[in-house]
Amino acid sequence: MRATVRKYTSQPISEELLNTLLEKASHTQTMGNLQLYSVVVTREQEMKERLAPAHFSQPMLMQAPVVLTFCADFRRTTDWALNRQGHPGYDNFLSYQNATTDAMLFCQRFCDLAEEEGLGLCFLGTTVYNPQLIIDVLRLPQLVFPVATITLGWPAETPKPSDRLPIEAIIHNETYSLYTPEDIDKHYAYKESLEENKHFVEINQKETLAQVFTDIRYTAEANEAMSLTLAAALRKQNFLGDITNGYKGTRPESLECDVVRFQNKKDRWVAFVGLLDGHPYEIFTGILDDDEGIMIPKSVCKGNILRRVLKDGSRRYDFQFTNKRGYKITIEGLSERFNPEYWNYAKLLSGVLRYGMPMDNVIALVSSLQLDSDNMNTWVSGVAKALKRYASGGDTELIQGQEEIDD
Ligand SMILES: Cc1cc2nc3c(=O)[nH]c(=O)nc-3n(C[C@H](O)[C@H](O)[C@H](O)COP(=O)(O)O)c2cc1C
Repeated sequence: MRATVRKYTSQPISEELLNTLLEKASHTQTMGNLQLYSVVVTREQEMKERLAPAHFSQPMLMQAPVVLTFCADFRRTTDWALNRQGHPGYDNFLSYQNATTDAMLFCQRFCDLAEEEGLGLCFLGTTVYNPQLIIDVLRLPQLVFPVATITLGWPAETPKPSDRLPIEAIIHNETYSLYTPEDIDKHYAYKESLEENKHFVEINQKETLAQVFTDIRYTAEANEAMSLTLAAALRKQNFLGDITNGYKGTRPESLECDVVRFQNKKDRWVAFVGLLDGHPYEIFTGILDDDEGIMIPKSVCKGNILRRVLKDGSRRYDFQFTNKRGYKITIEGLSERFNPEYWNYAKLLSGVLRYGMPMDNVIALVSSLQLDSDNMNTWVSGVAKALKRYASGGDTELIQGQEEIDD
């Protein structure tokens, strides 16, 4: 029966044996036979030292002659596609999941083969706790993510196999059946009866074995904190394009937009809210029908914001709407028509919108701005009003009919 081995002799593992095992493992099944994985082999002591902090300096890492970092890898496939007139679209979470599945299957197959060969190994789950450090040390490019680390060597110990739940505990026939308290008692009785586990509970001054896991080994606080570091690393490796990066890709030349008018103190204001897939992406605001402001017919409540790149590389944003007679009318230079201060703040705000901050938070953020001038404070409350319709529980009727919102 197999068991994790955490102590190794100083006998090296030949490159030939390692490569043979990896080659055999590569016959594992993978998505579309794309082999969405890579493995980084670490033998140098200096490299192990650099990896150690990511694995909380677990001693096996320094002791093992070989450390393997298995990576979910969509980079190679993406490069292949780019070199062959393909159109790769793998900078997203699903692709990370697919590549992780491939990498884990490859890793497990390797572990089986290595153990059959008499090698000992330990799986280090810490890989996904501190992925960024590993990414930096191993210089993993975007679309490559470390998902498993194995310390490998010839065994210097013969650990006894650890307990397992009875097989009925993990099998569900046809549909999933929830566990009753009696089922739990039955399934966990053996584990809880083991002397070593009782000892574990005692030295940790807990009442139950489960508490050792929930309150000490794998706590909510640690899981939540490490989820954040994991998500940040995934984003950096470009695997969360669609989710946390909000609306990815470059801005289309033309964006649909809502025209929202509102009264702010005595002034009448207008906001042009550019929408991507129905979500606010950018906003232009200013005073309506001011000489230097903007004039548009009252009936216009929808249009498009066109982005033009000028010869000198600068960008201009125009508003285009279709008038009652069906002609397209373009108002050029939205940004220049409004007070430059409004425009600068609007740029910041557009950045926030574009990267997917939830609308309730955007409004709270805008409303909390403390600005010096009256004008800017008026702008703040106007923008908050204009965005309210997109917030949860926002007044959706206003989206249809163009009505003025009063103070
Ligand atoms: C996802 C995962 C993470 C693990 N992380 C560690 C680890 O960081 N350190 C360690 O010593 N063992 C680690 N292990 C090994 C487990 O502790 C071990 O497989 C488990 O206790 C069962 O023991 P056995 O492998 O001897 O049957 C990990 C195993 C898995 C599958």
